[in-house]
Amino acid sequence: MTADVVIRRARAADAVAIAELVATFAAEALMLRRTPEMVELAIDDYVVGVNTRGQIVACGALKEYSPSVAEIAAIAVSRDVHGCGVGKAIVSAVETLALKRGVYDVFALTLQPAFFAAIGYQRVDRARYPEKIRRDCLGCARRFACNEICFAKNLRLESRAAA
Ligand SMILES: CC(C)(COP(=O)(O)OP(=O)(O)OC[C@H]1O[C@@H](n2cnc3c(N)ncnc32)[C@H](O)[C@@H]1OP(=O)(O)O)[C@@H](O)C(=O)NCCC(=O)NCCS
Repeated sequence: MTADVVIRRARAADAVAIAELVATFAAEALMLRRTPEMVELAIDDYVVGVNTRGQIVACGALKEYSPSVAEIAAIAVSRDVHGCGVGKAIVSAVETLALKRGVYDVFALTLQPAFFAAIGYQRVDRARYPEKIRRDCLGCARRFACNEICFAKNLRLESRAAA
């Protein structure tokens, strides 16, 4: 694929590299920090992008909230390969994982609205996802000053349209 990055499911041995990649953007408050332990516990939910030197340069995860609803989470692409289609490919791989699990309603809470709009997500009211609000937002220190924007995609409609 573009930028010679191969997308695959993550393995336990990838957990430290994933946490390090996420940490570079968490330090800029662009995303939430995740420890290697947190990543390893949820490793089956992660996909990664690997460059020709075997380094992890991208990641993403599916965070399930119910049998039908999941968040496209932990999307990060190393700066050296920004703008090469890797972010789009990572989200697509997470969507494929969602479809395999029978989850059709996916959403993202993001500070990168233009990215999600460019890859076919629609802006929606986060109130549409009370599961997310109950599990994460109510306990978050920034709940009264949150500037994340909610984007969603219905994968069932999309796969029907493609057929
Ligand atoms: C947001 C991010 C994942 C995008 O990754 P990327 O590999 O550069 O994105 P892609 O090259 O796949 O871009 C896909 C499309 O989104 C657009 N896009 C990507 N980032 C954009 C941005 N910041 N602003 C506007 N458009 C953007 C691209 O132009 C492209 O559009 P096109 O298909 O019409 O040409 C990456 O910048 C990143 O890791 N940012 C830091 C972490 C972060 O904020 N993650 C999101 C947490 S939800």
